[in-house]
Amino acid sequence: MKVIKILKYILIIGVTVSVLLSVIFYISTDYKMYDLKANQKNYSQNIWKINTDSLAESLISEMTFEEKIDQMYGEKMIFSIPKFIGSYIFKNRFAHIYVGKNDRLNIPPWVLSDGPRGARVLDKKINAVTTFPVAMARAASWDINLENKVHKVIAKEMRANKTNYAATPCINLLRHPGWGRAQETYGEDPWLLGEFGLAAVKGIESHNVMACPKHFALNSIENSRWVIDVSIDERTLREVYLPHFKKVIQKGKPASIMSAYNKVRGTYSGSNKELLTEILRKDWGFEGFISTDWMYGIYDGIEGIKAGLNVEMPWQDEYNYNTIRDGIKEKKISENDIDKLVLNTLKTRLKYAFAYDSINYPHSIILDSSHISLASKVAEESMVLIKNQNNILPFKKKSGTKIGIIGRLANKINTGDLGSSNSKPPYVITPFEGLKSYHKNLNNEVILIDENNTDEIKNASEIIDQMIVVVGFTYEDEGEYILSRSEMLKSAEANELVGVKGIGGDRINLRLNPEDEKLIDVVSKFNENVVVVYVGGSAIDMSPWEDKVNAILFSWYSGMEGGNSLARVLYGDVNPSGKLPFTIAKNQSDYPYFNPYTDSIKYEYYHGYTLFEKFNKEIAYPFGFGKSYTDFKYSNLTINRNTILDSTLLVYVDVKNIGDFAGKEITQLYVGFKNSKIDRPIKLLRDFKKTFFEVGERKTIKLSVNINDLKWYNTNSKRWELEDIEYEIYVGSSSNEKDLLSTKFKPSQHKLHNTF
Ligand code: BGC
Repeated sequence: MKVIKILKYILIIGVTVSVLLSVIFYISTDYKMYDLKANQKNYSQNIWKINTDSLAESLISEMTFEEKIDQMYGEKMIFSIPKFIGSYIFKNRFAHIYVGKNDRLNIPPWVLSDGPRGARVLDKKINAVTTFPVAMARAASWDINLENKVHKVIAKEMRANKTNYAATPCINLLRHPGWGRAQETYGEDPWLLGEFGLAAVKGIESHNVMACPKHFALNSIENSRWVIDVSIDERTLREVYLPHFKKVIQKGKPASIMSAYNKVRGTYSGSNKELLTEILRKDWGFEGFISTDWMYGIYDGIEGIKAGLNVEMPWQDEYNYNTIRDGIKEKKISENDIDKLVLNTLKTRLKYAFAYDSINYPHSIILDSSHISLASKVAEESMVLIKNQNNILPFKKKSGTKIGIIGRLANKINTGDLGSSNSKPPYVITPFEGLKSYHKNLNNEVILIDENNTDEIKNASEIIDQMIVVVGFTYEDEGEYILSRSEMLKSAEANELVGVKGIGGDRINLRLNPEDEKLIDVVSKFNENVVVVYVGGSAIDMSPWEDKVNAILFSWYSGMEGGNSLARVLYGDVNPSGKLPFTIAKNQSDYPYFNPYTDSIKYEYYHGYTLFEKFNKEIAYPFGFGKSYTDFKYSNLTINRNTILDSTLLVYVDVKNIGDFAGKEITQLYVGFKNSKIDRPIKLLRDFKKTFFEVGERKTIKLSVNINDLKWYNTNSKRWELEDIEYEIYVGSSSNEKDLLSTKFKPSQHKLHNTF
């Protein structure tokens, strides 16, 4: 009897599971795709000429209550979850989530695709897209024109994959280099972040894709991201953690912005009125729509509405009809609040749905050869030469050379983390493959040495002329951290890891993995000249091994073409020109307090170079530092002391290439605040320019500072104020004082327009 009962249960479970799997399979393989542009057939007037603002208003007046709410979330869970999970499991694809489709009123939906390093959501017939080096690498290029081009390509490939809403750029500040998602952002400095974010937004929007900078705000710790509460004083918030968001919003005018998971001063970002309404909309004049980060983005629909959050993603949960209807009945919110939120969204997104596209976006544009060459150019421009003792690099490329390459990552496909920023390339050139193909025509042998075999290392070392050790990280060491919220909460409350650590996440210790450090040790014992190539997304502590090697090159997660680019840099076809977008400390403990397992943290005013400079802490490598195969000499720093038009101070400096290689230099301008009456950083980056120089060439580089960018945020008056003091203007090749020329400047000694 008992046996029959058990068999019956097994049968029922078996049938249910197979039915469920088939449904998931069916939905995932065959989910329906929709057009994202308005259909001309539905309108008598040419659709590009339609006034979409008036259209949005009239559409709202025709909408039922439910139809309005339907504009406020991604999809309904019941069909969407099987589609999403099925697509992931059976097709290894991130599904199209259609938001706000209304057939009765002819409103097309919008679809999100992540994209910091390449379009994420792929059309059913597409298996691969152009995969760029990660954002942190691109920041190291200090080339905002390139970033703009990268995002234009990402936008084009998004359109070809039938998506029109880009969850990029990520402009959260790198408060501590151990942040797991460091690779997705542009470094520690608000100015650099703002410039890169702006370039990215402009690139995305140029193809009628809605840009969505993220995560607003203070999302700089990964392992507690769903539960952590960040406390911060007003001045730190305004001057350190928000200026880049403000710049991107005001100058780039992106369609949207994504709220963060974490709490800010006790309230989740997705329902934080201070952030979403007071700062974003009222202070900065943001006119687009705000979407939550995916799942765990808000916990209370009414609070979300009160805070001004427009769209819950990716599924309808808190923004459900009953909660909102009850909220209106109980007068916690009004229907007018709903209308306002829907109007923000509709007005914005209809502009894109009705916009004229100057080109088509067929599948054939994906992986266009120009996109691939851009991926390799970006990788070349981003590599940072940290050390080059005895000018061991560039390597000589004469025939008959034997090259050894070793390390876990030497021949590994490794383009970064596997979280939301993942992108599928058609191929990835590993460091070993890049070197091999580079040396093919030179008839040189490239030997991949087994890192686990000390005898092999020893024997190879005897015959080898050039030795490259590839060390660093993969998605297992750093990246987006996915595990259940309740598990995350347990560790956060305990202030330490409870249970099993998820994949990726934050790096608590900034040293390399022990096997990498050991490898460097072993290899350097047998070889006099060792070049270390580091693959990763943020700073590392090199102190245990940097003296044992001759050269160190940061190649980052360098995208699909990375191995080829690496070879060209190592052999001098490309002169390295990247510079660090963060400071590397001498002692790890000098960075701001960082605990990935905590439910509360305070973000202080100082971090990065402002912290190290203010408190005289020793650094290993400064922000803005990177070597070249040539040298540049700076002279004649001058300020245009005539009338300053549009509040902009013009600064000139002569730069000369005094070495034997043509190459690029990144000239940086910092403003110093030594004479300030209040507590301010020693200096702050305010401009930079990347310029190419032939051997012996000298150029005058023009930089500028807007007087408004010297201001500080006075929390009493709640205004940005200018101190009339003498400011230092520093210009040079890194943030290190010894690399900078300086002069002085006092606003009141100039005839300023539009300043006070
Ligand atoms: C990430 C976002 C991403 C979203 C959609 C979230 O887990 O935090 O950055 O845009 O997923 O993939």
